Amino acid sequence: MSFSPASDDLCGRLGLTQPIFNAPMAGAAGGRLAAAVSSAGGLGMVGIGGGVATDWLQRELALAASSGKPWGAGLMAWVLSESLEPLRVVLEHRPNLVGISFGDPSAAASMARDAGALVAMQVGNHADLQRALEDDIDVVVVRGSEGGGHGRNEVATLPLLQLALDQTEKPVLAAGGIATARGVAAVLAAGAQGAWIGTRFAACTESTSPARAKEAIAGAGTDDTVYTRAFDIAQQVPWPAEFGGRALRNQFSDRWADDLEALQAEVASAPRITEAIDAARRDADVAQAPVYAGQSAGITHGGETAAEVVADLAGFRAHLRASASRW
Ligand SMILES: Cc1cc2nc3c(=O)[nH]c(=O)nc-3n(C[C@H](O)[C@H](O)[C@H](O)COP(=O)(O)O)c2cc1C
Repeated sequence: MSFSPASDDLCGRLGLTQPIFNAPMAGAAGGRLAAAVSSAGGLGMVGIGGGVATDWLQRELALAASSGKPWGAGLMAWVLSESLEPLRVVLEHRPNLVGISFGDPSAAASMARDAGALVAMQVGNHADLQRALEDDIDVVVVRGSEGGGHGRNEVATLPLLQLALDQTEKPVLAAGGIATARGVAAVLAAGAQGAWIGTRFAACTESTSPARAKEAIAGAGTDDTVYTRAFDIAQQVPWPAEFGGRALRNQFSDRWADDLEALQAEVASAPRITEAIDAARRDADVAQAPVYAGQSAGITHGGETAAEVVADLAGFRAHLRASASRW
């Protein structure tokens, strides 16, 4: 059955045939993944972290746009507070949607709007939601604490989703813990206009994550993740303290996640830990390096293309029909 959203909803405005957004994931979602998701009818997004080289950015954005379908990019507000230059480069490629998350989105949102893009913001608590309800944000992405990568660890996806849907007529997307057609059906039934999915796409063929990280995600269970700032402290990445990251538990997090003060002291006294974790990242040593992933790692099997994932998620329609007929 084909999907035909009303023209006033977000998927209709973006011309999507599936209400599926691949989360912008620095280190995992480059142009190839974004183009594959967009080609499959969803919205592909490129994840842009701090310190990215302009030639890398130009190449990935061109790749994302090459599908000829709508696409987007996600940037971090705290990184853009240093310089809006990465956003300027992004906007030259004319994305349809720009995600600005983790910090004050004001300056970036206004610049993206002026360039004709819709602006999305991920929210992780009540105060974030109030900020996203201001006029400069078009799309509210509720991002629960079960989600992979950085964000808040305060409220789970479902309470945040209900709160947001009760408070706004703006399009709301749900993120955090959604990885199957059942999960997509659940959030659409509640009133979300789409699902913003990270972990399952991070394990896809087109993801730029190292093969060993993808295998680790595919092999993990739902309770094999940890929310921690330990990896950022060790790498000396200046993430604001309120945004830790959810990653697979490993030897490094088992040693340090509950001992952050000692880790901080160790990092300040000698470069050894930072050098070791940087080397572990280069070598894709998943026992020591962060593998960012959410609780939905436990329902992610890996080894699939993005098109296969989108086709599988499109099965949400059967779940919605089954529920509707039961009730
Ligand atoms: C590997 C990884 C990297 C991420 N990087 C970013 C990022 O660069 N920018 C961003 O806005 N969100 C990032 N996120 C968070 C996602 O946007 C999203 O909130 C999350 O993946 C949703 O939860 P899920 O992983 O359970 O699907 C990342 C998530 C993962 C798993």
